[in-house]
Amino acid sequence: MNAFSRLTTAVSLAYLLPLVAHAGEVEVLHWWTSGGEKRAADTLQQLVEEKGHSWKDFAVAGGGGEAAMTVLKTRAVSGKPPAAAQIKGPDIQEWGELGLLTDLNGVAEQQGWDELLPEQVARVMKYEGDYVAVPVNVHRVNWLWINPQVFAEAGATAPTTLDEFFAAAEKLKAAGFIPLAHGGQPWQDSTVFEDLVFSVLGAEGFHKAFVEQDEATLTGPKMVEAFAALKRLRGYIDANAAGRDWNAATGLVINGKAGMQVMGDWAKSEWSAAGKVAGKDYQCLPFPGTQGSFAYNIDSLAMFRLSDEDNRKAQADLAETVMSPQFQAFFNLNKGSIPVRLDQDMSAFDACAQSSMADFKEAAGNGGLQPSLAHGMAASSYVQGAVFDVVTNFFNDPQGDPQRAAQQLAAAIKAVQ
Ligand code: GAL
Repeated sequence: MNAFSRLTTAVSLAYLLPLVAHAGEVEVLHWWTSGGEKRAADTLQQLVEEKGHSWKDFAVAGGGGEAAMTVLKTRAVSGKPPAAAQIKGPDIQEWGELGLLTDLNGVAEQQGWDELLPEQVARVMKYEGDYVAVPVNVHRVNWLWINPQVFAEAGATAPTTLDEFFAAAEKLKAAGFIPLAHGGQPWQDSTVFEDLVFSVLGAEGFHKAFVEQDEATLTGPKMVEAFAALKRLRGYIDANAAGRDWNAATGLVINGKAGMQVMGDWAKSEWSAAGKVAGKDYQCLPFPGTQGSFAYNIDSLAMFRLSDEDNRKAQADLAETVMSPQFQAFFNLNKGSIPVRLDQDMSAFDACAQSSMADFKEAAGNGGLQPSLAHGMAASSYVQGAVFDVVTNFFNDPQGDPQRAAQQLAAAIKAVQ
């Protein structure tokens, strides 16, 4: 061993020793299992391991996270919740009420979360004034992904209105492409539906329908129009859509079989993983008719009470890591989302992320920033489930009547309020 390697070994041992003394384990429940999303999750694992802790991956496949939430409930009931779980929006309050979450105020104070986070975000992460969850990112749900080469071959134009969207779909269909890549799963059906609601009812109508759950809005003529648009859109998906995972649908657009996909910006993780470049190989457009507005979906890790001290330290280090600028860059570059820190340097991010950040800030100031219903930000999981049922039944019923669907939507929500 030469003098230099002796020195570096000594330095790295000195660096590791205090960490090893407090090494703990963090078990993290999430559903980031697609190729692109796994790359993002791996960045967190790596940073946690660099702090000397061990990572226990608790990944439950299933886009939208319904399966993950079911498994989490079982684990919590048996008294063995993981250290951290991806729990979002109003659900954080429900877990807080059960008394199962731990507070992260120490880390939050040390890192200055109150100053770093947008106020709307900080509020969601707190239960009775205490931080119980750490925000990971901000996803935007109202996106349309298109393959420009397919569009060129079909002579279609990138749409900015719903009329143009259907005109493009018609051209893609005539040219033999799948116009819209879709996965027939309830959360995906409702993702598309909520974008249509956003487009047809506008930000104010969206808020009235999904946040206030106002009956007149839920049953009104605009909601009927949104259901009618959903029915029309269904004419442009392929026969094999039933049950398809969202990332397989993204794959159809990437490999040029389909022209478009309506999906949140986690879809970008698949494009990035395939080595494709935003603005060149693919385009991200605000969902037609929702320009300047932003349906947000904030991923967050809620932390459960633990008894082991080393594991508690590992949990606090996990929270600290998630809020670090380094993680916010690594993770979100892979995940397709934007960082949650207001002071984050965005220079490494692509055109889609840059415009997402600009729209996020603009929408925050003009009422256009709205919580996603399909992704558990606008209402409880009970309301979300009720909407999923009505939307998916309507979507799969060739006789589905938009007027009746709007009535059913209001009734289903009322039943679980
Ligand atoms: C969302 C989640 C995203 C992404 C997506 C697809 O609910 O917030 O991070 O994972 O599901 O599974």
